[in-house]
Amino acid sequence: MLDACLREGIWLPHACTHGTCGTCKAIVLEGDVDHGDASPYALLDSERQEGCALICVARPRSNLVIEGEIDAEEGVAVHPVRDYTGTVESLDEVAPNVRRLLIALDRPLSFNPGQYIQLVMPDGDSRPYSVASTPAAPDRIELHIKRSPGGVCTDGWVFKHLAVGDGVSLSGPYGRFSFRPLRSEPVLLLGSGTGLAPLKSMVQHIAETGGEHSVILYHGVATRTDLYDHELFEAWDAENDWFSYRPALSRDEWNSRTGRVPALLAEDYPRASGHTAYVCGSPAMVNDTLRVLMKARLFPRDIFREDFFDSRDRASGAHIVRSPLIRR
Ligand SMILES: Cc1cc2nc3c(=O)[nH]c(=O)nc-3n(C[C@H](O)[C@H](O)[C@H](O)COP(=O)(O)OP(=O)(O)OC[C@H]3O[C@@H](n4cnc5c(N)ncnc54)[C@H](O)[C@@H]3O)c2cc1C
Ligand code: FES
Repeated sequence: MLDACLREGIWLPHACTHGTCGTCKAIVLEGDVDHGDASPYALLDSERQEGCALICVARPRSNLVIEGEIDAEEGVAVHPVRDYTGTVESLDEVAPNVRRLLIALDRPLSFNPGQYIQLVMPDGDSRPYSVASTPAAPDRIELHIKRSPGGVCTDGWVFKHLAVGDGVSLSGPYGRFSFRPLRSEPVLLLGSGTGLAPLKSMVQHIAETGGEHSVILYHGVATRTDLYDHELFEAWDAENDWFSYRPALSRDEWNSRTGRVPALLAEDYPRASGHTAYVCGSPAMVNDTLRVLMKARLFPRDIFREDFFDSRDRASGAHIVRSPLIRR
């Protein structure tokens, strides 16, 4: 049901997409649904009897009329989800265990900087990856993919078998983690590892559209060799007054400093009010960074997050532990 809505460009609130968080609850006014894997904690028996459904896991058994709250925000375009095919144009190791995948699409993809796509694997299952390129190049997308030891998509396919010239399928765009162009405050972009991908799209988009924002980008990795695209960001930093690039190395030095993103951020911003922050990376990094931002007096309405949850997080339920205050 959720997929059908997104494909019509109707944005209903959702988060886990696995029937466990309850964010996507809607009322079925007419018709029959199969409730699928709805968790009894997210959809109580009494709610089920009253006609509610979790639309991320429910399937229609007939034509339906549903009532839900459409999530609309001024300045944020809603692009209907579509299926795409494409060809691998390049696949390069840009840092240890990180590959940059460029896909030439057969038709243009409309998306907001920061959104993600679902990359379909040979077995038909799919994994989400954030788009690192910008809407200005809609028929050629860039993804940054980190190897997950034992991971089906990465260890089992992208790092072993996928090759230049291969055909791929994907769908998108998905997600509410996207640049808010109507906010004029200085922007803090805070990413770890391949969490850089959607942030790179945002910086480049601001540069391409001549935005008036001042932007500070923190990229957290372990050592200098784990940094990628740093020559590009260093060049942008040197050429533009509005952009500042700050690598955060947890086991190495950059500008005589060592530390993860939350630690360096706390040093630099004892007060962060008056900024808009976009945080992306592992769930642990995102949570630690949010704590620093809140301590620095940034309000939840000024913080946007994207957690790179994986199968391990989903199996452990870690993906449903989240602050209801911070938007995704
Ligand atoms: C919105 C979003 C955007 C994302 N964007 C990016 C991106 O731009 N770049 C990026 O690199 N990643 C991104 N991710 C993460 C990505 O989607 C994948 O989760 C990641 O690449 C791992 O996929 P995989 O199939 O290789 O691993 P999986 O097979 O999913 O396994 C991941 C890990 O969990 C372990 N595991 C699997 N099943 C279980 C289980 N039942 N119990 C315990 N452990 C288990 C595996 O051994 C492995 O170590 C994003 C995630 C989300 C939610
Ligand atoms: S999005 Fe449907 S239950 Fe979480």
